[in-house]
Amino acid sequence: MRPHRDFLTLRDFSAAELDALLALAARMKAGRYRKQPLAGKALAMIFMKASTRTRVSFEVGAWQLGAHALFLSPRDVQLGRGEPIGDTARVLSRMCAGIMIRTFAQADVEEFARAADIPVINGLTDEHHPCQILADLLTAREAFDDVRKLSVAWIGDGNNMANSWLDAAAQLGFELRLACPKGYDPDSTALARAKSVTRIVLTRDPREAVAGANVVNTDVWASMGQEEEQAVRARAFAGFIVDDALMARARRDAIFLHCLPAHRGEEVAASVIDGRQSRVWDEAENRLHVQKAVMAALMGGESLRPGKKRARGK
Ligand code: CP
Ligand code: NVA
Repeated sequence: MRPHRDFLTLRDFSAAELDALLALAARMKAGRYRKQPLAGKALAMIFMKASTRTRVSFEVGAWQLGAHALFLSPRDVQLGRGEPIGDTARVLSRMCAGIMIRTFAQADVEEFARAADIPVINGLTDEHHPCQILADLLTAREAFDDVRKLSVAWIGDGNNMANSWLDAAAQLGFELRLACPKGYDPDSTALARAKSVTRIVLTRDPREAVAGANVVNTDVWASMGQEEEQAVRARAFAGFIVDDALMARARRDAIFLHCLPAHRGEEVAASVIDGRQSRVWDEAENRLHVQKAVMAALMGGESLRPGKKRARGK
């Protein structure tokens, strides 16, 4: 098996590497990175769930770095007809330089990565959304500079986003204050791991979570695959809307983030997502820059070590 690294959760990068990735992404965003380290290479993009931002940002980003990106949905590939994950991963490894996958179980992405001998990037599972949190960190860095000093409030479902925020807090050491209704807590392992290394608050009261926060972040109440739970969840999440009254309890210079797609009037008031504190369009754009940094590092040999231009063995 060829040596390679995957990006399955935020724990796959050290704190120093996360800093380097964010710095590289910022350089790319500023137009100060003109290399095409993926020239002549291909990125396979497997989407078992719908996507706007992830698909477009990976496809455009791969192209900007010189690669060709293939969009593969279950209707197009044999995976949708039951071809084993491992077989698909081995075949793609013979033709492509990297695989981005969006699917349901994190265990499937891990199985994919074990069988592949090229980098595998998690484009969202039921349990994690690491690329999105990387984009959110870049957005927070643009507003506040030092992400380690942040206080981040997570309001709503203890879902894939919340779990990846926990990983980010654990890696970088910032404060994370989550308000989730009873029965909708984040993953207990991710919670315990983060609690052991940084300040984590889990409350049932959104007002307690946003007190003193720099970043206020929410997400839909029913994620992809949970659509039939919408009515039950709408009842459970009553009172968890991020509105102007809640934002007023955060710091005056707090920013509002939402990974999108959003439901105005449910988890967030239109006046907030379309208001002066919202950074959601920068956040969406930042998906492009952070994922380019990830692809350049994992597939293109760009070093994440200070003072080194290219990684060895890539
Ligand atoms: N935020 C996000 O991942 O969006 P898509 O589902 O549109 O890719
Ligand atoms: N939690 C949401 C995020 C969408 C980008 C979902 O999984 O559907």
